Amino acid sequence: MDDHRIKQHPILSTDKIQEYIKFTFNGDPLKARKGEMISSALFANNIHIFGKHKKDNSPQGMFCANGQCAQCLVIADGVPVKSCITQVQEGMDVRSLNGLPSLLEDDEHVKYGKKIPIIKIPVLIIGAGPTGMSAAIDLGKMGIKCIICDDKQVLGGKLSLQTHNFFGSIRDCFAGSRGMDIGDKLAQEIEIQKEIEVWPNSPVVGVFSDGKIGIIKDGRYVLCKPERLLIATGAREKTLAFPGCDLPGIYGAGAFQTLVNRDLIKPTDRLFIVGGGNVGLIAAYHALQAGIDVIGIVEALPQVGGYKVHLDKIKRLGIPVYTSHTVLRAEGKDHLEKVIIAEINDKFQPIEGTEAEFKADTLLIAVGLTPVDEITKQAEKYNIKTYAAGDADIIAEASAAMISGRIAARRILIDMGFKVEIPPEWEDLLNILRSKPGPVKGLFPIPKGLDVYPVIRCAQEIPCNPCTEVCVLQSIKIKEPTMMGRPKFDGKCLGCARCVSICPGLAITLVDKGYDKTKKTARVVIPWEMPKGTIKTGDKVITTGMEGEVIGKGKVISMKKSKWQNRRTLVSVEVPFNEADLVAGIQIKKPREKKTISNLQKIDNDDIIICRCERVTKKEIKDYIRKTGTRDVNAIKAALRVGMGPCGGKTCTELIMRIFKEMGIDTKKVKPPTDRPFTQEVPLRSFLEEEEDN
Ligand code: FES
Repeated sequence: MDDHRIKQHPILSTDKIQEYIKFTFNGDPLKARKGEMISSALFANNIHIFGKHKKDNSPQGMFCANGQCAQCLVIADGVPVKSCITQVQEGMDVRSLNGLPSLLEDDEHVKYGKKIPIIKIPVLIIGAGPTGMSAAIDLGKMGIKCIICDDKQVLGGKLSLQTHNFFGSIRDCFAGSRGMDIGDKLAQEIEIQKEIEVWPNSPVVGVFSDGKIGIIKDGRYVLCKPERLLIATGAREKTLAFPGCDLPGIYGAGAFQTLVNRDLIKPTDRLFIVGGGNVGLIAAYHALQAGIDVIGIVEALPQVGGYKVHLDKIKRLGIPVYTSHTVLRAEGKDHLEKVIIAEINDKFQPIEGTEAEFKADTLLIAVGLTPVDEITKQAEKYNIKTYAAGDADIIAEASAAMISGRIAARRILIDMGFKVEIPPEWEDLLNILRSKPGPVKGLFPIPKGLDVYPVIRCAQEIPCNPCTEVCVLQSIKIKEPTMMGRPKFDGKCLGCARCVSICPGLAITLVDKGYDKTKKTARVVIPWEMPKGTIKTGDKVITTGMEGEVIGKGKVISMKKSKWQNRRTLVSVEVPFNEADLVAGIQIKKPREKKTISNLQKIDNDDIIICRCERVTKKEIKDYIRKTGTRDVNAIKAALRVGMGPCGGKTCTELIMRIFKEMGIDTKKVKPPTDRPFTQEVPLRSFLEEEEDN
């Protein structure tokens, strides 16, 4: 079988993939990397269909890669497990789960009834991402004992998937550093704090009216009784329902980043993305870094919601972005084979005759995030002193999450009676970092009379200023009082290229018009993070402007690792004098053309899977609402089993609410499903007595 692993990457080290173990899938011998999840090992072996659904035999694969959806169930050594959160072991016998699993033979011999430990603690922090870690560090420094628990094995949360540079300011939130490096930095700080107890691999599964929190700590059920509870659970991805949306090969952008950036798997050859927010745009960039062909991105709105610098960056690399478009449907026999998109009108209705078809084996859903707030709601209901921060409170960039965590820590300290305050500048900073991108205002004119100078292509107000912080001569400034303004170069330039190296949006080039005055050529220094070999010194390249438009031709004269930015390369390109100010990038492929198709066969648009666990369609849900007039999701749940599968309604509840809305029903009058513990499956063995207890 093919080994679909990333062999080289411009940012990530591929050296760590060293120790391999053997396992079997349906009897076939395969190799896995030691410590990797079963799903990743299967993807590395080009296996994307893990089993068949019990209800209709439909192919099942991976969807969330985060233990939330249960689409990835397999039988490992006789036990049904979620393959995305179960490590493959030497000699493991992995089999497809086709239908329902059978009961284990020895299930009558076990003992249960062990006294459940109750752990008292001043502060319990749920979630070890940027928010939880930042809060824990500040609490630990004040001598407050806290437990920080997370369902993952390593600290960092989504930071560990973020190979790109952060926006914001260097001083306040490590702007210009990569998310994964920030995660490591915070984790190291946690390690040296004596007051912080870290519980990895410990999902929270319930909040109870007596103020206790149920946690599966390393496979054992424990109860924690905190005086204060900080919820830093982050966000989960929203999804979209369209015909074919349940095919293997269609999954969330977070799942993709897990496969590519955490596990160094190349899960696809031809990728399509729906959603032009920062998550979708960054996923496209990450795909290119992994050597994956990105066919295009669709965005329903007339403009993308992500930062313009992210958009420009991927357009320069040849990825077409179709705004005012939607995915009409996905097609394939057992796996995604093609995506059909169409233009939409201002009422978001597809315009007939604009349909276009693209061959793709993977479609990423990147249509936004929603706070993971079910624990917050329950804890507040039971009057537990609860604080929500980061994405669990308000969705924003991870830089905002760190500040939000620090503010939450201060709130806790104040409530505990400590004489501390929340600096007003922190609140201001949080508001700025949470700001949506502002209007696109254009570029400042390039100064005249200099031979060497930066060209800054930051045309939109976004919360970011590292270029102003690194300029040795302080020639780059933001006029506005906050970092939301656009940076302007005005003054002298040393030609050090620190601004080119640090800009998280890769939006700055350095022009040196003194390069060769006789030939009338200039040198343009371009920030570069594509795989080795994509271009090399001596290559003749096609140069592109800010938004990917072709400018002309250039020659690569050098490629050097930046002194100022870990793992970024500075590419010097010789270009004609008159093109130097315009050149912003290098084309690595031509954008694919969209060809409209005629006579698209019509299909029933309500025949869409809404509840993935129980395979319930939109049509069934609509028919039930029409027939009964219900406004209660619990009633639909009882009648059709929606939300009763292993995911507990985490994916479908929002889609059901959208169905009510589509039917013209005021969703404020719709009763949401009742959340009850446990919020995820808890293996019965978590309650069993351990051998040594006997
Ligand atoms: S893909 Fe494993 S639980 Fe969702």
